[in-house]
Parts: sequence; structure tokens; C-alpha cells
Amino acid sequence: MKTVYVLNGPNLNALGNREPGIYGGRTLSGIESDCRTTAAELGFEVDFRQTNHEGLLVDWLHEASERDVIGVVLNAGAYTHTSIALHDAIRTIQPIPVIEVHLSNVHAREAFRQQSLISPVAAGVIFGLGPLGYVLGLRALAARP
Ligand code: DQA
Repeated sequence: MKTVYVLNGPNLNALGNREPGIYGGRTLSGIESDCRTTAAELGFEVDFRQTNHEGLLVDWLHEASERDVIGVVLNAGAYTHTSIALHDAIRTIQPIPVIEVHLSNVHAREAFRQQSLISPVAAGVIFGLGPLGYVLGLRALAARP
């Protein structure tokens, strides 16, 4: 079966309680179950993970490449805006496509959120659509040739 990784970065474990006016009320396990439902429909096996540690995200991207996954949906949280290491990791695992996802509309927020170090190396970017963004990310991977 085709495997996809759905990787989540810092503070996303707190979804549900964390600034619900910005991120909504859905928990990360709710988002995981949305992803599992969509993955089952698409015939994907989904490996869904969260960490608060930047280096672990790098390790998981390398692991995705070693496991020959067909793509990654990545919400890197705040590391999106700071991490050259994640930028480099995404380049390192090319041609595996990485879809960058954000729950919130980062371009309608603080200036420091309006730069992504990941977008230039992502296969696509989805933001501002809440949990639906993850589902659309999986569908985007399924639609790739
Ligand atoms: C986020 C946006 C980031 O700016 C923020 O640091 C997050 C969540 C989002 O999903 O909207 O942690 O990636």
C-alpha cells in the first residue's frame, strides 16, 4: 500500500485548547481521524505524527525518504518561519513531494508569519482552511502523476 506521512510540528499537540479563535476547536486527534478517513478512501496508509522538536522533524523527513513514501503533508508550525534545517531536509529528500499546510491564514497574521522557509521547496502550499487543509493535502498527493 502507498504510504504518506502527515507530520506536525510544535504546539500542534495543544489544538483544541490553543487559541481556538485562530486555530479552531478541533483537536489534533480529530484531524488525524479526518486524515485516516480520507487516506482510506484514497488507498493510502497514513503515518500521522507530532513533535515539538525541530531535529525530529528533520529525522522523520529522512525516514520518509528511506521508507519510500509517496509524499508528506507537513504542518511545521512556527519552524516554518525559522528553519533552514527543514528547508534543507525537504530538498534532501526530493523528489518526494512535501505539501505545506497551515490551519490559519498566515498571510493575514503577524509579519513574521508571512515568510515561509519551506514554501520555496514545497510541492504545494495550503493555508487558511483549517483541518480541511490536511485532507486537501492528501488529495493533492493522490492527484500527482
Ligand atoms: C500554523 C501557523 C504558524 O505560524 C504557527 O506558528 C503554528 C500553526 C498553522 O497551522 O496555522 O504553530 O502552522
